[in-house]
This record gives sequence, C-alpha cells and structure tokens, in this order.
Amino acid sequence: MKLRGNWNYPTAIRFGAGRIRELPEACLTLNIRRPLIVTDAALAKLPMITEALRVFDESGLKADVFCDIQANPIEENVRRGVATYKHGSHDGVIAFGGGSALDVGKSVALMVGQTRPLFDFEDREDWFTRVEVKGMAAVIAVPTTAGTGSEVGRAAVITDVSDHTKKIIFHPRMMPSIVIEDPELTVGLPANVTAATGMDALSHCLEAYCAPFFHPLADGIAVEGMRLIKEWLPVAVRDGRNLDARSHMLIASSMGATAFQKGLGAMHSLSHPCGANLNTHHGLTNAVVMPYVLTWNRKAIDEKLGRLAAYLGLKNASFDGVLEWVLELRRTIGIPNTLADLGVRAEHAAAFAPQAFADPSTGGNPLPVDTKQFERLYLNCIRGELANAA
Ligand SMILES: [Fe+2]
Repeated sequence: MKLRGNWNYPTAIRFGAGRIRELPEACLTLNIRRPLIVTDAALAKLPMITEALRVFDESGLKADVFCDIQANPIEENVRRGVATYKHGSHDGVIAFGGGSALDVGKSVALMVGQTRPLFDFEDREDWFTRVEVKGMAAVIAVPTTAGTGSEVGRAAVITDVSDHTKKIIFHPRMMPSIVIEDPELTVGLPANVTAATGMDALSHCLEAYCAPFFHPLADGIAVEGMRLIKEWLPVAVRDGRNLDARSHMLIASSMGATAFQKGLGAMHSLSHPCGANLNTHHGLTNAVVMPYVLTWNRKAIDEKLGRLAAYLGLKNASFDGVLEWVLELRRTIGIPNTLADLGVRAEHAAAFAPQAFADPSTGGNPLPVDTKQFERLYLNCIRGELANAA
C-alpha cells in the first residue's frame, strides 16, 4: 500500500515520503512570503533545514531560522522567537522539529499578536478567550519525531521557570493550518529517541482511551493508534531505516494527539513535574510511569482494557494482557523500569505531588487522585512497585 494521503482531519495534513518539497507551495497557500522557521539548534545544522532554506531561495521566498530553544522549552525561548519574528517582518511560522520546536513555534505564532504575557493563556477555565485572535500568525508544522503529535494539537507546553511547572498554553486556533508529515525526516532518529517519543504517542492513545468521558471518536482513533504502535514501534526502534515503520509511527503520533482532545491522565501529571524540575525526557518519563499508572487505575479501566486487548490481538484479552504487553514492549525497546533510573529520588515525591495534582491532565485520570495519592504513585514509580489505588 502506498503510504500517502491528503487529509483534512483534524487539520490539513499532507502525508507521504518526500512531501517536504511542498513546503514553499504550502507557504503560498497560506499567503506566507517571509516565513520564520522555528527549530532547535541541532536540527538547524542538519541538511533538512539547510535544504529547506535552499528550496525557499529558489522559490523566491525569504525564510529565516530561529533556533534558540531548549528541550522542555521556557518562556524566554518564546520571547526571543517573537522578537526575531518582528525584527525580520515575518508573516508566518514554520514549526519544524520535535515537540519542543513545534510548541515554541506555535507559541511564537500566538504571541506575535498579543499584549498580555504568555502564561495568561494557560489552559484554565476560559482563559483562551483572552487571546486576540486577529494578531495570531499562521503556522505550518513539520514534525521530525513521532510521538508528541503537537503538529495536530491546539496547545503548547512551556515551562514556567518561576515555579518550575510545565504550563499548557491553549487556544483552538493554535492548531497548525497545514501539516507536512514526511516520514523520511524521521529516518535519522536514534533508536533511544525513537523509543521514547514512540512511547509518548502510546501514552497519548492510552490515556485518551482510558479518560472517563463520552467521546467515541477519540476512543476509535486511540485504539487504532495503539495497534499501529504495537506493530511498528519495535520495528522502527530495531531498524530506523524501515520507512513503513517510520510512516506508521508518524501517523500514530498524530492520532495520539488527535485522541487526547478527549483528555489525558496521571501519566502526564506525573511526568510534567519530572521534566520541569529535572529535565527528564517527556516521552521516556511517560513510558516509565505507564505500568504503574495503569495498575493504579485498574478498577476503573478493567473492562475497557479487556476490549483493547481483544482489538490488539493479545493472547490474554484482559487488563493483565495489556499490562504484560506494555511491560514487554518497554523491555524490548530499552525503557528503564523505574523513575529512580531517570534520577527521581524518594525525596522528590512529596515536592512533585502538588504539581502533579495541579496539572490539567489530572482531570482526565480514570480515578480521582489527590496530592497524597500522587506522592504514593511517585514512590511506586521510583521503587518499581505495581500497586492498585488504595
Ligand atoms: Fe505527551
């Protein structure tokens, strides 16, 4: 089957190998003539960016690169991007890279038209109504990892250094107008990054599927996303050049983020404080906490995971079958077993628990979790203890 498509769900996606060449034409479609490419410093040196600049030159479009961003990006990255955008009189953003670059690019496009500070647009109550929509710049997203799914998301995660929390910046129009998904861009990803980002996609599908809300569209996307990940993530980790595996993982990543419009859960609540305070990798942290959160939530998701197990074709079509599969997948692709392996210590549990409780993902967890229970969950993840909620 030729893995190529043009989809308008949840936004305009151009999927297929080699489609990065359509980038200048995509800019013209959105009336962008001076795009600012927002990416990270490592990518900025790679041929995929230098080549994109050359193609822009040939097309008569004047593109510049902004790459002063960090993993687990902070507000200062966004501020500098906005200054660069204004200084260069740009008229649109190309968010090009992994989750950090995509989130900064989307935030820059939001903030070029605002007078309020970034964290006034945190995903709380109706704060998104504060946005002056007219000032927002158009965004084209080009993902180079398969996990975050931020290319089809309406939010960006930016760390607030004043209180070491990850804040979710949200506006429905932050969804990029055009997404170019070219699996060839992900071929060079090392196995460990492929594994960690792929597990982020799995955590999105799994948490969305388990979130206790009525949203059959999201559930349907999530289960097929998980089937693709089950089939293709181990292949992509083992053989990074396998374009079928890369293609399916890139699709699964977008499916995860599409599904999690429904909600996330305690995996993300636990993961965000680790990333904000200790700079752990987001997908890797989710992968580590995954079996502990599933086990904790067992009584609320027992039946649902039985259905999932049947769809995934697991021999043991039950909650335990899914748990065994997750543990086996983690071993196969080299994910560590505990948060202690990522440098999280028992003394962090009490400090991180209130931040986890306050995380917007907490509302989507199948069982309510209070601060004390988050502390318990952290300790489970640090010590490697699979335990049900008390
Ligand atoms: Fe995530």
